[in-house]
Amino acid sequence: MRVLIQSDYASVSKWAAKHVADTINKFQPTADRKFVLGLPTGSSPLGMYRELIKMNKEGIVSFKNVITFNMDEYVNLPKEHPESYYSFMWNNFFKYIDIPENQVNILNGNAADLEKECAEYEARIKMAGGIQLFVGGIGPDGHIAFNEPGSSLTSRTRLKHLSLDTIIANSRFFENDTTSVPTSALTVGVGTIMDAKEVLILVSGYNKARALQQAIEGGVSQMCTLSALQLHKNGIIVCDELATYDLRVSTYRYFKGIEKDNLL
Ligand code: GLP
Repeated sequence: MRVLIQSDYASVSKWAAKHVADTINKFQPTADRKFVLGLPTGSSPLGMYRELIKMNKEGIVSFKNVITFNMDEYVNLPKEHPESYYSFMWNNFFKYIDIPENQVNILNGNAADLEKECAEYEARIKMAGGIQLFVGGIGPDGHIAFNEPGSSLTSRTRLKHLSLDTIIANSRFFENDTTSVPTSALTVGVGTIMDAKEVLILVSGYNKARALQQAIEGGVSQMCTLSALQLHKNGIIVCDELATYDLRVSTYRYFKGIEKDNLL
């Protein structure tokens, strides 16, 4: 696993955006051979989205031949609700870039048959040729997408009930009212994420420090689903200084040292 320790959120965002753009450009996608990108919501990727929008406008990267798959979506929250992940993605990213609407995939948390919706999502990923690069954030308990502690590390897209930790953390988007936060969501599984050719995880801020420590220095465990990244061939974590607070000094120095030429 690579760990890139940047000074702050702005550098994490810039580095991540550049990495996404470089990876797409290196792939040289065409209409017949599209690049497949997995994407997250949350405050962690917002800066990266802003940078990618800028790079798209400047002609540095195009999304014309990119297919996206979002990680997750709340269940029973209307699509038009400002906090649905559908609204988040369109309002913060898709409407500003040159991606054709029919190349965007977001789970439908209002589908009549949720199990079928999840199975079809997995099938769509397969049909698209698999995900080249999956970008994600983490929850304060180390979860990726909505794979809460206790999620199988080989899980596929499915319905998950949210943990109290996640409901409390996400209540900030629902006027701090925990009773307004949906209690379940559809989410890609840990296995779905691990199938991607490359996984890039963004981690910022002191409130993620314990989760980052567990994921890097702890054992592989379903109680911190990001730790599954230890088994991935191409796993990258890009984090800021505040998120490294609980790492051992030797771990911190090791990654700072070996990546010193690759930092912003
Ligand atoms: C939710 C999402 C995760 C995201 C996490 C952290 O739980 N399902 O995909 O990583 O929030 O969000 P933030 O980046 O806002 O801290």
